[in-house]
Amino acid sequence: MKILVITGTVRKGRTTGDVADKVSAFFSKRHEVQLFDLKERDVPHMEERLSNAENPPEDVEIFAEMVEWSDVITIVSPEYNHSIPGALKNILDYLYPEYNDRIFTYVTVSKGGFGGLRALSHLHDITIALGGLTGPSMPVSNVDQHFAEEEVSEEYQSKMERFLEQVEDYHNKFSQTI
Ligand SMILES: Cc1cc2nc3c(=O)[nH]c(=O)nc-3n(C[C@H](O)[C@H](O)[C@H](O)COP(=O)(O)O)c2cc1C
Repeated sequence: MKILVITGTVRKGRTTGDVADKVSAFFSKRHEVQLFDLKERDVPHMEERLSNAENPPEDVEIFAEMVEWSDVITIVSPEYNHSIPGALKNILDYLYPEYNDRIFTYVTVSKGGFGGLRALSHLHDITIALGGLTGPSMPVSNVDQHFAEEEVSEEYQSKMERFLEQVEDYHNKFSQTI
């Protein structure tokens, strides 16, 4: 599988960056992975979809190439004010046809005990609108306890393994239908 991991926040001091890096490293043991980290990129406010843009921003063109390269897109997003960060919504809005047949999978991140479930629910709605397939998810609760150290906690090592198996199963089933 070719997996594109998107790090969905640019906040200074974010914990979601660690989660995205660790999930990417874990996925890379069995699959090809590319990481698109919004913090490392220059993505202006979307004025026009990429397909209609006259002078598209370079990093948005790179994002589109990564989306087209991928079989599976894993969005790693914190929950901000019961939703997702504006920066993440902004990059997602740039594309549409490029998402065709892509499987979206989700890692939502929270310091609290509910694993960013409201962000997950919004991501489901958004990625359905993008024409993607809504795949498995891994909500991360109490992120400071599980991803702050170099080693991911044992609980979340197991959850990452289960999540990756679910993504593999989902991809295998879906690829037989196209
Ligand atoms: C602007 C802002 C809004 C937040 N809103 C929520 C929220 O609605 N629900 C929640 O569980 N955590 C919320 N949090 C806390 C995040 O869960 C926490 O920051 C967590 O570490 C993931 O975000 P991070 O990658 O920015 O660190 C919010 C944090 C910020 C900075």
